[in-house]
Amino acid sequence: MDAVGTRRSGRERPGGTTLTVEPNTLATSPPDGDAVVRVEGLWKVFGKNPERVFDEEYRGLSKTELQARTGCVVGIRDVSFDVRPRELFVLMGLSGSGKSTLIRTLIRLIEPTRGMLSVDGQDVAAMSTRELLEFRRRSISMVFQSYGLLPHYTVLQNSAYGLKLRGDDQKTREEKARAALATVGLTGWESYYPDSLSGGMQQRVGLARALATDPDILLMDEPFSGLDPLIRRQLQDEFVDLQDQIGKTIVFVTHDLHEALKLGDRIAIMRDGEIVQIAEPEEILSNPHDDYVRAFTRDASTAGVFTARTVMDDPEVLLYRWQGPRAALAELVHQKRDWAFMVDKKHRYLGICSRDLVDTLIKEGNKHIEAADLIRPDPVDPDVLIQDLFGLVGAGSYPLPVTDADGTLLGVIRPRSILEALHTPDPAEEASDA
Ligand SMILES: Nc1ncnc2c1ncn2[C@@H]1O[C@H](COP(=O)(O)OP(=O)(O)OP(=O)(O)O)[C@@H](O)[C@H]1O
Ligand SMILES: [Mg+2]
Repeated sequence: MDAVGTRRSGRERPGGTTLTVEPNTLATSPPDGDAVVRVEGLWKVFGKNPERVFDEEYRGLSKTELQARTGCVVGIRDVSFDVRPRELFVLMGLSGSGKSTLIRTLIRLIEPTRGMLSVDGQDVAAMSTRELLEFRRRSISMVFQSYGLLPHYTVLQNSAYGLKLRGDDQKTREEKARAALATVGLTGWESYYPDSLSGGMQQRVGLARALATDPDILLMDEPFSGLDPLIRRQLQDEFVDLQDQIGKTIVFVTHDLHEALKLGDRIAIMRDGEIVQIAEPEEILSNPHDDYVRAFTRDASTAGVFTARTVMDDPEVLLYRWQGPRAALAELVHQKRDWAFMVDKKHRYLGICSRDLVDTLIKEGNKHIEAADLIRPDPVDPDVLIQDLFGLVGAGSYPLPVTDADGTLLGVIRPRSILEALHTPDPAEEASDA
């Protein structure tokens, strides 16, 4: 587990062709012999007499028209895809596009109206209640946005919950739960209760609970979306590393393109219950199927691709702590500055040294500058996305220091640089303006 930032995994992407599904056709994914999840022609229609929507007279009607004419709401519509072993398959789309309905239907938390559904070669649609329960307890785990922790259970007990449900003995439960907590970096927190943990930590407990049963498949419905942007990025990065180690097959719902691009081996884009395009991230960006997909990708064209490293500058003036207050003052006066970043001998970031501070130290006859007296904006990782820094800088605030894992000062980001990065015109718009 490491500092805030972004890193792509070195994981091999499973090969394969891009599939584009035309709306309202019974398209299927490329035949894939060892797919872990196979979905074909899956529908979920909410409402009374859902079968009515298949009547000839309603054929081809849009979701809105169907709702107006039949009172039924189409949750998912004729969806087909495969998920390959160890693939992280992302479902993305606007609110109401059917992501949660689809992921829940995979384990029949929502009963499908029509279609074929197989997981690990088992026909999920045909399972009896008992088989289904067993399947959910052993083969699959789900992580939700609201972590769903039990407040009166400790972190350890929460993490062991799935194991308890399936009847593992106390010793096994504890061992596996501890191991899962270690995997998500929560060793030492076993005896705490959820309300004494931050949101990010609670989500890790949710993840540990899902991992503890060692499922073949993880279903994750917007697991990180309730978190602050920086914490969210951090968890995403940790999750990329984790996936490298555990190699689960994962279906992951998000409405955040950056998250999808970072985590996904393939991304399925949903609209009105249908899958509009399934493709690898590069393909989604370079070859969006239609305007709806393009609207998502446009979002990624500016802030999303600029990282702290790409917009940082060298600090104009740098002070060294061992120089002492008088040397620092001389440098500030010489450079006509009120403050400057200060580092130690190894060029590690210490903080911002102001003229007020050195004046005071000199007045007090103090020959040393203590790191603790410096103003210290939190450093950011060079790979963090600019959009996540937006909230951290305001007019008149200090630049943000960019440091590596050792704390070495790599550069600084001025508020102006962030604004400029965010206002770089979209190449497509430029072209159409020309
Ligand atoms: N129990 C239900 N009864 C009726 N309609 C439902 C029900 N559950 C979901 N829907 C409808 O199904 C559609 C898909 O909803 P779903 O919750 O799957 O969307 P989503 O993509 O997960 O959205 P969000 O990003 O807001 O979570 C919506 O039109 C919704 O109103
Ligand atoms: Mg949802």
